[in-house]
Amino acid sequence: MATDILGYEGKRVVVMGCFSGIGEACAQTLVDLGAEVHGADIKPSPVNLDSFTEVDLKKPDSIAAGIAKIGGKVDALFNISGLPQTFPGEDVVTVNFLGIRAWTEGWLPNINSGGAIVSVSSLAGMGYLGRQPLVREFMDFTDFAEARQWYLDRAEEVGDPYTLSKEAINTWTQMSAPDLIGRDIRINCTMPSPIDTPMLGEFRKVAGDAVLGAFAKAKGRYSSPEEQAMPLILLNSDAARFISGVCLPVDAGLAGGLATGVLDMQKMIAEAMAEA
Ligand SMILES: NC(=O)c1ccc[n+]([C@@H]2O[C@H](COP(=O)([O-])OP(=O)(O)OC[C@H]3O[C@@H](n4cnc5c(N)ncnc54)[C@H](O)[C@@H]3O)[C@@H](O)[C@H]2O)c1
Repeated sequence: MATDILGYEGKRVVVMGCFSGIGEACAQTLVDLGAEVHGADIKPSPVNLDSFTEVDLKKPDSIAAGIAKIGGKVDALFNISGLPQTFPGEDVVTVNFLGIRAWTEGWLPNINSGGAIVSVSSLAGMGYLGRQPLVREFMDFTDFAEARQWYLDRAEEVGDPYTLSKEAINTWTQMSAPDLIGRDIRINCTMPSPIDTPMLGEFRKVAGDAVLGAFAKAKGRYSSPEEQAMPLILLNSDAARFISGVCLPVDAGLAGGLATGVLDMQKMIAEAMAEA
């Protein structure tokens, strides 16, 4: 009978975004599961890793240098870094999408057969299929400076840069999956509802307590970083070896409830306001 169904013992994995929040929780759990864990972030990780490399996802040179420094073959990438929309919009779309994609593509030649990639998107990107022409126009840029300029020129039409960045992650995940499976590499992402991490305070500044409170209503509380790390670990594990191209809501049923009309966001916001 199989005992180690996740199969991380001895696997070589890379966690981008291991300084805090989900990334820190994910890196710690992977260490506990016996993986060889290499971390990257703009800030050092509190986790006792096999290595830590400073990488700034805003900068292509830093991305290339980070990949070269860690080097070697890897079994799994965990793409967790992200910026909220309280940062300049052009930085948000760069870190959350352009940087994550360039980091992943830089690693691709080094990913072992049977390997897997998972990224953290967001429920904010849930409407990606309805905005495809705009999202694909943004995704067509590979040059960071050109993409940033496109965003600045189109900021009004784009709206929230965080939403665009996560719509692009969802689209890229699903567009990449058929090709990558031919090389026996899987790619997925998760779409969390609000999480009790340092980023939540930033979202509160933008969305306000009532909207955030409504998003927490499905379960009556926000998720913890650990509750978001576990699905990432599952998706990149041997237990998920037939799962690819999935954008998985990790939201205690919120997205499904909204999609089927069982939950009503306006009603939930009104209730959250009444409770505040
Ligand atoms: N907190 C939430 O409510 C929430 C909800 C949905 C999705 N998410 C997503 O979850 C992911 C993790 O966020 P979190 O909630 O753990 O917040 P967090 O702020 O704790 O983590 C973000 C991480 O990204 C790193 N980072 C920031 N700029 C970077 C750069 N230029 N280069 C490399 N790394 C950089 C930070 O140092 C930090 O470790 C993000 O992608 C975020 O968009 C968060």
